[in-house]
Amino acid sequence: MRDFGYDVADYRDVHPLFGTLDDFDRLLAEAHARDLKVILDLVPNHTSDEHAWFVESRSSRDNPKRDYYLWRDPAPGDGPPETRPPNNWQTHFGGDAWTYDAHTGQFYMHQFHRTQPELNYRHPEVLPAMLDNMRFWLDRGVDGFRVDVIWLMLKDEQFRDEPPNPHAAADARPFDRIDHIYTAGVEGIHDIVRQMRAVLDEYDERMMVGEIYLPVEQLVTYYGDGDECHMPFNFQLILLPWDARVIGDYIRRYEAALPPGGWPNWVLGNHDQHRIATRVRKETEFFPKNSASGDPARVAQMLLLTLRGTPTCYYGDEIGMEDVPIPFEQCMDPAALQQPGLFEVWGRDPERTPMQWDASPHAGFTAPEATPWLPLADDYRQRNVAAQDGDPDSMLNFFRRLTALRRAEPALQRGIIEVFDVAANGVLVYRRAVPDGDSFLVLLNLDDRPATLDLQLALDNRAANVILSTVASRGEGLVAGALVMAGNEGIILRVSKALD
Ligand code: GLC
Repeated sequence: MRDFGYDVADYRDVHPLFGTLDDFDRLLAEAHARDLKVILDLVPNHTSDEHAWFVESRSSRDNPKRDYYLWRDPAPGDGPPETRPPNNWQTHFGGDAWTYDAHTGQFYMHQFHRTQPELNYRHPEVLPAMLDNMRFWLDRGVDGFRVDVIWLMLKDEQFRDEPPNPHAAADARPFDRIDHIYTAGVEGIHDIVRQMRAVLDEYDERMMVGEIYLPVEQLVTYYGDGDECHMPFNFQLILLPWDARVIGDYIRRYEAALPPGGWPNWVLGNHDQHRIATRVRKETEFFPKNSASGDPARVAQMLLLTLRGTPTCYYGDEIGMEDVPIPFEQCMDPAALQQPGLFEVWGRDPERTPMQWDASPHAGFTAPEATPWLPLADDYRQRNVAAQDGDPDSMLNFFRRLTALRRAEPALQRGIIEVFDVAANGVLVYRRAVPDGDSFLVLLNLDDRPATLDLQLALDNRAANVILSTVASRGEGLVAGALVMAGNEGIILRVSKALD
């Protein structure tokens, strides 16, 4: 548990902290009984150093499992061997990607923590073994996998030094100063992804979403010809500036890059990135804390849930949870602990704090006498599910209205998306439409300032009804022609006949 589950010691069991395989089966059955799907996080790139394979691998140079992992001699040179890593590769958590093992006098490779040695997918036994691990869970009934760092699974066969990154900032970390051409998206990776997909295709209705941080043109290659990931995660909403023009351009670029039949997806938050509510609220000057109106965090959810494709929402974002500042002494995340000077930038604890269920001790996350693994947000007594449940204007009820609308409307589920050119007024405007049903215009003011929109063009001289706004006081009503939006307001308009 050095990286909280991303260091697997046994691919076919449940960590005792979380229960047993029987508990897992019950969880799955109860979820399925409620028509919920369960996908597991599969971590094939690396194991824990406690995994039986690694214990064997490190035991001697001629152990049959030695080459299940990436072992290399120290680089030539003077000085003690442990100071001579085989090449310049770096870890995502800070520091060399090589750890010296005195017992056999070689280094093993890891792009994350030193307790997460990386598997060698050029060894003929490794992939088949991992595919069998997938079958183990698919046979139990899981609906698919989120595959951890799938694009990193193969490394350069010659272990060449990575070249300098020409775009690195002057004060960039060593990891960001090199261009990861020999550790990421390495030639041959698509073949591995295809074999993983083929396992899913042995079963009915299973899916695979790949964790991939790559520019859009490379990202979409992980759809293959419909024979790789069902969805390569699209993280750009997290990474792009909160700017209507930039996001509008990206939506078009992404849609244009998708291969035929490639189903889009959008991610607004995850356990590795600072929370969206913190980011967008910080960037807006005028947002009054806890106000029911003008909250850019609501605009963000409206964006996520009205774009074309599968949305990924991170727990707590539906009630507007924010990052919780964690003092260094309380940090748990290796990315923080290994980069003390930069822990506020790279540490991932702030977005991993307990879910805020209610106003009771520890927000109902754990028993009152227990100590939660990370501190709670100061405002958890106000911002929690129970409090928001009873307030019709709360973020949670707003989120529920959004999801209900999406569920009810074919245009929002599978309609086309057309992004309109935004004037320089900070408003992102797009429409979703199906040939025979109602269409929708989505207007998102990503700016603090109010904006006046002339909707005649977008509405094609038809009238439309406001059906949902992030500002509760707007109410519903007819719109024709011009519309004045509040700062940080998002509005969905129903246009009662397809627009063309
Ligand atoms: C992925 C996970 C992250 C983890 C890393 C190593 O990026 O999302 O949480 O630390 O892989 O497994």
